[in-house]
Amino acid sequence: MCVAKKATLTLDKSFRIGDIDDRIYGAFIEHLGRGIYGGLYEPGHPSADENGFRQDVLELVKDLNVPVVRYPGGNFVSGYNWEDGIGPREQRPRRLELAWKSIETNEFGLNEFVDWTEKAGTEPMMAINLGSRGIDAARNIVEYCNHSSGTYWSDLRTKHGYAEPHNIKLWCLGNEMDGPWQIGHKTADEYGRIALEAGKVMRLVDPTIELVVCGSSNDRMPTFPDWEATVLDHTYEVVDYISLHQYFGNRDNDTPNFLAQSVGMEAFINTVIGICDYIKAKKRSKKTIHLSFDEWNVWYHSNEADAKQEPWQVAPPLLEDVYTFEDALVVGCMLISLLKRADRVKIACIAQLVNVIAPIMTRTGGGVWRQTTYYPYLHASLYGRGAALLPVIDSPAYDTKDFCDVPYLEAMATVNDETDELTIFAVNRDLEEPLILEGRLGNFEGYRVVEHITLTHPDLKARNTEDNPDNVAPKSDGDAKLDGELLTATLPKASWNVIRFKKG
Ligand code: AHR
Repeated sequence: MCVAKKATLTLDKSFRIGDIDDRIYGAFIEHLGRGIYGGLYEPGHPSADENGFRQDVLELVKDLNVPVVRYPGGNFVSGYNWEDGIGPREQRPRRLELAWKSIETNEFGLNEFVDWTEKAGTEPMMAINLGSRGIDAARNIVEYCNHSSGTYWSDLRTKHGYAEPHNIKLWCLGNEMDGPWQIGHKTADEYGRIALEAGKVMRLVDPTIELVVCGSSNDRMPTFPDWEATVLDHTYEVVDYISLHQYFGNRDNDTPNFLAQSVGMEAFINTVIGICDYIKAKKRSKKTIHLSFDEWNVWYHSNEADAKQEPWQVAPPLLEDVYTFEDALVVGCMLISLLKRADRVKIACIAQLVNVIAPIMTRTGGGVWRQTTYYPYLHASLYGRGAALLPVIDSPAYDTKDFCDVPYLEAMATVNDETDELTIFAVNRDLEEPLILEGRLGNFEGYRVVEHITLTHPDLKARNTEDNPDNVAPKSDGDAKLDGELLTATLPKASWNVIRFKKG
C-alpha cells in the first residue's frame, strides 16, 4: 500500500518575525528591449492613452498592486545621461546604448516615468549613474526631482511642465558596480568612496531621501562577500539599504534542483544580514542597515536568442523569457524566502515588470497576457501584507546536486491585523506525489478558511501565450479545512498554494 507523504506545520499568532514592508512586492523596469517601448509605452497602440501609456498593461500592473518600481536600470543606468530624457521630445538625442547594444531614442524619460507611476498607483525608486558619471550628475538629478523652485534644476523642471517637485524618496547609488560587465566597473574601495560622496551630496540636496548602496550582483561573484564588508565600511552612516540581486535558471533540466535554488537565496540573505551587523558592531553604530533585494527572478530561457540579436536596434526583443509552470513554482519559493526575512528585507523588486524577464507580456501592436509567474507574485502582493509569521515545519526532504535536505514543503505565513486575515503560502516541491499538510494554528480563534488557491499543471513546461493565455492559471479548488486549531490540506504534486483564512 502506498502511504502519502505528510508534513506538519505549527503556527501561532506570536510567531511574528517582523512587519512586512509593502515595498517587498516592488518591481523593476529598465530601458532594455521592449520593457518600455512596446511595453509600458506605445503611442499608436489601440489602448494607448494621451501619454502613450498602454492601458491594457496598466490594468494588469494595477491588479498587482505594485508599491514601488525601480528605474531606469539595471546595466543601462551606468551609461545613461538622465538629462537626455527630459525636455521637449524633438530635442532629445538618439544614443548608442552600450549595455544592451541598442539605440535609445530617449522618447521616454524621467518625467514620463513619474507620470506612469502615478497612473499605475505606485512609487518611483530611482537609480543614478555611478558608472560613467558621478557626484555632479547625482546632486543635479535630486535637485531637478525634489527641490521646490528657485534654482536652475528645479526651475527647469517647472519649465518642463512639472511645477510640483516629484519628491522621489528612494534612490539607488548605481547598479551592480562589482560586475566587470558594468560600464564604469569599480573595485569595492573605489565604489565605496564614490557611493559615500554621491550619497552625501544627494542628502545635502534633500535630507529626507533614502539610499540603497550596491551589494554583489549575485552570491557567486568572486568578490562576494568581501565587497559588502568593504562598501559598507565606507558608506555605513550615509546609506539605508544594501542591494542583492539573484536570478535562477534550469539550464540542465534538473527540476528538483531548480526548485531547491531558493534555499541558496535564503543563505545569501542571511550572509548579507551578517555582514551588515558585523560592520554595525565594528563601527559601534546604533543604525541597522536593511536589505533591498532589488532584482530577483528566473532568467535563462532567452539567453540563446539574445546572443543572436543584431546590435543597434530600437527596442529589440531582448530577455523575453517565456515562463513555464515550474518557473512559477520557483518564483513562489523566492517570494517565501523574502518573507522569511521580512524583518530585514524591506524592499524587493521582481525583475522585471513587462516583456523583459517579466510576469506581463505584450505583443507590440497586439495583446497583453499574464505569464505563469504573474500568479505567485499577484497572490503574495494581494494576500501577503501585514506581519510575517515563521511557521515550524517538519517535512520530508530530498537531496539535489546543489543542496542537501531540501524540504518538500516550503511555506510561510502572514497575518494582517487590520483585516483579520491570515495567509499560508506553500509550495510542494514533490514532482511525483501530493503532500498532506497537517497544521496546528494557535491563537487564531474565530478564523475560518475562505479560500485555498492552487496553481498546478500536469506539464512542468506548460506556458501561457497570447493564443493560450490561461493555460497555467490558478484555481480556487484546494481542500484546506480548519477544525478548531487543526488544519488539513492536500498540496497537489508540484504546486503553489495560497490558503486564506479570515476571522468571523
Ligand atoms: O535585469 C536584467 C539585468 O540583470 C540588469 O540590467 C542588471 O542589473 C542585471 O545583471
